[in-house]
Amino acid sequence: MKGIILAGGEGTRLSSLTKITSKQLLPVYDKPMIFYPLATLLKAGIKEILIIITPKHAGDFLCLLGSGKEFGAKFTYEIQDKPEGLAQAFVIGKDFISKDAVAMILGDNIFEDNFASAIKNFKKGGHIFAKEVIDPERFGVVKFNKDRKAIKIVEKPKKFLSNYAITGLYIFDNRVVEAAKKLKPSARGELEITDLHNWYLKKGELKVDLVKGEWIDMGTFDSLLKAGNWAKDQVEK
Ligand code: G1P
Repeated sequence: MKGIILAGGEGTRLSSLTKITSKQLLPVYDKPMIFYPLATLLKAGIKEILIIITPKHAGDFLCLLGSGKEFGAKFTYEIQDKPEGLAQAFVIGKDFISKDAVAMILGDNIFEDNFASAIKNFKKGGHIFAKEVIDPERFGVVKFNKDRKAIKIVEKPKKFLSNYAITGLYIFDNRVVEAAKKLKPSARGELEITDLHNWYLKKGELKVDLVKGEWIDMGTFDSLLKAGNWAKDQVEK
């Protein structure tokens, strides 16, 4: 299983913090933000990791993370020229992914859970993770039926669908590369990760589990502050 950390985007919701640096390099208590999703992949046993970065701050990521040796891993880097969507990562990463399955994590997501067994037991299809939240309109949202089987997934629904947000860790088999290549940009001009979820859902090959521990998407001032406080508590535990 290969790993991808997507650290693209312009972090406009965190302006002016992101005027001179990348969102994923901002401090979250005692570490740069990207260290948290990196730790999630490393803890899950993933050692070959592609880090997708923006051209503007590429040098800073290289300086911070280097070859991966220090982390007992091997890092590869690719540039996402424009923020054209999460699903584009699988097109940018196609040579790196090669014939393997892949776990992609967003560079601004903190997870408390350990995904080692999910990764070890993954065989085929897609495996994503949801969490009950009070502000689902900020996220990709999944609706479950009575048996907790996913029946509908919508990106940032305008009309209430459910309280279950789809978190930023996605495990897909190798078909994701071909599926991503065929996607058309959405109305906001992005290749949507939600379209990939739906591609697997339609085939009956999408597993949606719940995240048990804390999960924070650090894309806003409030969630960034919450993450910092959470990280401090973890250090002091
Ligand atoms: C992205 C995805 C969304 C997901 C979220 C998790 O949203 O598009 O489906 O729920 O990450 O962090 P973004 O944070 O890029 O708006």
